[in-house]
Amino acid sequence: MYIMSNLLSVSMLSANFGNLNADVEMVNKSEADWFHLDIMDGVFVPNISYGFPVMQAIAGKAQKPMDVHLMAVHPEQYLEAFKNAGAAYLTVHYEACTHLHRTLKAIRDLGMKAGVALNPHTSSALLADIIHDVDIVLVMSVNPGFSGQTFIAHTFRKIAELKKLLQSEKSSALIEVDGGINTENAVQLYEAGADILVAGHAVFSAANPIEAIHRIKHNK
Ligand code: DX5
Ligand code: ZN
Repeated sequence: MYIMSNLLSVSMLSANFGNLNADVEMVNKSEADWFHLDIMDGVFVPNISYGFPVMQAIAGKAQKPMDVHLMAVHPEQYLEAFKNAGAAYLTVHYEACTHLHRTLKAIRDLGMKAGVALNPHTSSALLADIIHDVDIVLVMSVNPGFSGQTFIAHTFRKIAELKKLLQSEKSSALIEVDGGINTENAVQLYEAGADILVAGHAVFSAANPIEAIHRIKHNK
């Protein structure tokens, strides 16, 4: 039987970096499941976010697993550093890896769960030869680089195709969806087969972020 997970990973990209501890504590207290950390190098994506010192500051207070989304070229150079900084899940981009199989294996060998992220234009069919080496598939529902963008509706078709692939390959990889997720579209995404939703803007722009997290997870 397929068990729906309905997990929520809160993207800290929209947090208040002037008072980060308060936002980490908020996520700790909330019903959120994971911390989602968006690491951008200014090359793979047209933006630079934050790196290891900030991640370590979050790790020092976080009481939930750290879900790292690495938007960088040559991700293989940083795998051990992310392990040391506290990553439980490490996701690299399909489009950034020449030797994806080797990189995913190295992530698992370090004791982390291995994820692969797909840009909106990248077909899930390209994962057929790698799916058994993956713990999570991160479906980008915006073009990576910025928080607060509009959800791309084609994502629903992508989730359906990915689900078919996972079922035919008997893979138990989780489906994570990232970008433009809010209290309106979350329920449809969970129903479509998303195990984990990422939300940043919808959480931190809400008057009551704890309540927004509850509403995204439970649709009420
Ligand atoms: C975009 C990031 C996302 C982003 C999600 O490059 O991967 O994780 O922060 O943010 P919202 O929820 O604001 O779309
Ligand atoms: Zn992300």
